[in-house]
Amino acid sequence: MPIVTVDAASRHLGESVTLQGWLYNRRSSGKILFLQVRDGTGVIQAVLSESDDADLFAMASELPRETSLRVRGTLREDARAPIGCELQLEGLEIVHRPTKDFPIELKEQTPAYLMDHRHLWIRTGRQIPLLRIRDTVFRAFRAFFHERGFVATEAPILTGTSVEGTTTLFELDYFGDRAYLGQSGQLYLEATAMALGKVYWLGPAFRAEKSKTRNHVTEFWIAEAEMAFVEHDENLKIQEDLVRYLVEATIAERSAELALLERDTELLKTQVAEPFPRIDYAEVIEWLRSEGHEIEFGSDLGAPHEEALSVRFGVPVFVERFPKTIKPFYMKRHPDNDGFVLGADLIGPEGYGELIGGSQREDDLDALVAHMEEAGLPTEPYQWYLDLRRYGSVPHSGFGMGLARVLRWICGVPHIREVIPFARQINRLYP
Ligand code: 4AD
Ligand code: MG
Repeated sequence: MPIVTVDAASRHLGESVTLQGWLYNRRSSGKILFLQVRDGTGVIQAVLSESDDADLFAMASELPRETSLRVRGTLREDARAPIGCELQLEGLEIVHRPTKDFPIELKEQTPAYLMDHRHLWIRTGRQIPLLRIRDTVFRAFRAFFHERGFVATEAPILTGTSVEGTTTLFELDYFGDRAYLGQSGQLYLEATAMALGKVYWLGPAFRAEKSKTRNHVTEFWIAEAEMAFVEHDENLKIQEDLVRYLVEATIAERSAELALLERDTELLKTQVAEPFPRIDYAEVIEWLRSEGHEIEFGSDLGAPHEEALSVRFGVPVFVERFPKTIKPFYMKRHPDNDGFVLGADLIGPEGYGELIGGSQREDDLDALVAHMEEAGLPTEPYQWYLDLRRYGSVPHSGFGMGLARVLRWICGVPHIREVIPFARQINRLYP
């Protein structure tokens, strides 16, 4: 008898099949039993009347949730089921019967409890569609760059230098030397871009973030690109195309999952329909102050400011021309005023915060050394990076995107921890 998966079941109507998975839930109305069986691709309802098989009915009626099993039966069309069919149950084989009650109930439990049981929580409810959409977004990110002729590459995780400032570094002992977990692959991607032209990678990044927000984790997958001979405007254009591509690919491939999450896909489509607006930092500060926010020119934008901005625009918006004092040393200075940088942050709509940080890079050796000195960075450990400006330096640009933040927005999820299989936060290293 063929084994089918839940997502393919509707193509086998009228056939006798086997499905294998876990008992998600069970209910009965007197003489009829309904088993919800999930297999990772979806949930199917298996139905049995007591009059059809009293022994099977009695056995299946007392199975605990998350029993792993194989169910056998005939697939019947059912227009009310999200998957379009149900299984008329004819046989059931227990693979493993849980020894205790499954700790995750299908009703509300506290976030702390759920996170303590994350390894089991991921089997339930919204968590499965979220993780499936995550797979799609990761794949779409790679497809976007592959289709455009970029070369996939990697950056090391163990590094000897910082890229995004020294306050969020995880430090470790490296055979007697000091090493850091990578905060971003950027500096290495700048090197590979000088070898390969246009490159991208998707890899882990670490930040010792002491803040507990809905948008920060200490470990996340950063999606970065670096492009030789690309300047600021083209950099923003690529970012915009990428964001639109990710949204459209997810809607095309995961509409069922987005529907389960009750995400308004029409809204998502309109959010990426038009070119993203661009606004200068100075204008943002002025506007925020006029709205009653207490923020000084020269301060970084915090969560409430980004939220206000994203409500004002309702679409992703690029904030440009940040003062150099709040941005990293590698950013090229603005040609009109070298107190500002030639970079931008992309702020997501609906309060989802910063999705992308990017810039044109300083490609002049002397200017870059001067930036480092201004930032109080020792130049010695960065000699390899400075070499990129000694041997055939070219204008180049790049950016980094936190895919979990993009996922939070696409899925409409309140907290970043739900779109990461095992989120790491200041107070969370287990499970
Ligand atoms: O803005 P960031 O710090 O920029 C960089 O790391 C650059 N070197 C990237 C580049 O130009 N290649 O980080 C990039 C993105 C942010 O916009 C945000 O989406 C995400 O990474 N990010 C985080 N996501 C989750 N938790 C955190 N603690 C994050 N910190 C940054
Ligand atoms: Mg940033």
